[in-house]
Amino acid sequence: MHLTPAEQALLAGESGPAAQKSLQILATLGRIYGAERMIPVRSVQIAGVSYDNLGEAGLAWLAEMAAGGGRAQVFTTLNPAGMDVENYPALGISEAFAENQRCVLAAFEAMGVVTTCSCTPYLFGNLPHFGEHIAWAESSAVCFANSVLGARTNREGGPSALAAALTGRTPAYGYHLDENRRPGLHVQVTAPLTDTPDFGALGKVIGDLLQTRSVERVPYITGVHEDSLEHLKSFCASIATFGGVALFHMPGITPEADALGPPSEKITIGQRDLEAAKADLTSAEPDEVDFLSLGCPHLTLGEIERIARGLQGKQVTREFWITTSRPVKGMADRMGYTAIIEEAGAKFATDTCCVVAPIKGRFTALATDSAKACYYAYAKNGFKTRLLDFDELLAEAVR
Ligand code: F3S
Repeated sequence: MHLTPAEQALLAGESGPAAQKSLQILATLGRIYGAERMIPVRSVQIAGVSYDNLGEAGLAWLAEMAAGGGRAQVFTTLNPAGMDVENYPALGISEAFAENQRCVLAAFEAMGVVTTCSCTPYLFGNLPHFGEHIAWAESSAVCFANSVLGARTNREGGPSALAAALTGRTPAYGYHLDENRRPGLHVQVTAPLTDTPDFGALGKVIGDLLQTRSVERVPYITGVHEDSLEHLKSFCASIATFGGVALFHMPGITPEADALGPPSEKITIGQRDLEAAKADLTSAEPDEVDFLSLGCPHLTLGEIERIARGLQGKQVTREFWITTSRPVKGMADRMGYTAIIEEAGAKFATDTCCVVAPIKGRFTALATDSAKACYYAYAKNGFKTRLLDFDELLAEAVR
């Protein structure tokens, strides 16, 4: 792998041990994946922020990188943490956990990382443009950046994303290269898609299908006519969760699709497939639900406005988390949506989400509109789940 003189200097430790370690990680990755060189990246999104996932070993690694002079060389944002940094007592997060989580965030802050704590950084300033090379972790955001925005990133892990932040580089392989962005399977959708659970179910059907074929192929998806920012972020979260998909093309919707055209191998997905996927994600009876959450991925301002309209003048009957980023929450505050939602008894869980917060054992069953949240609610926390439409969920919350 060719390294420039500047990269060789980093590897020799001329910019300190954190940058040296980072370049070692990236060079090793590059060798494993056959990269010929490094490329500069314009932004980084780091995942693995919750102390619940990092533990003591992860925190020690971050502290070591900060103490070793690590400083972000490019604009770098953070995935959700394990708690709302301001409102954590109301969410039942212990002081001991909060202290450890604060240490994690302090280490990132010392390295010049913007501690926004959200999986939707593209909603508030970390918005890459078409063709831009970036190094993002967080599978839903990676899929959104690659597919919807046409930026270029692999699915980074926590250490490789931090390494990219501290050097401003990533090895040139995978989805950074044109040849790996070509579609390999044409997926024709014949079912109508109306709300986030439909898009989530579609992501699960395609993802499961790619998994059973054991091939990493970029799907080229036709037949999707109704789309919105909210639908696409939900779809990205789901197809990345169930299929490990980091890139798809949708003609008329994603920017590279029309130039590439559909591949010859084709499969069709219909209404029955979506219904089966939704049934798979619904294991709880209505009366078992003791926890509701909206905001996986983190909510847009438009979604929060929809929640405020649905809850105005009503009272929720169970624990109900509204998860979003702090910048979007700030806008909701100013618009008066926060007051309406909190008046109804729902709780904002800003900076965090129902998956990365330490809530194992606290609830029996989660109701959500997110296929991804259903998957992890069971896989990580052992909760039963109900996948509901956005409006059904709001009705359920006040039932
Ligand atoms: Fe985001 Fe948490 Fe869902 S990180 S995509 S809200 S699991």
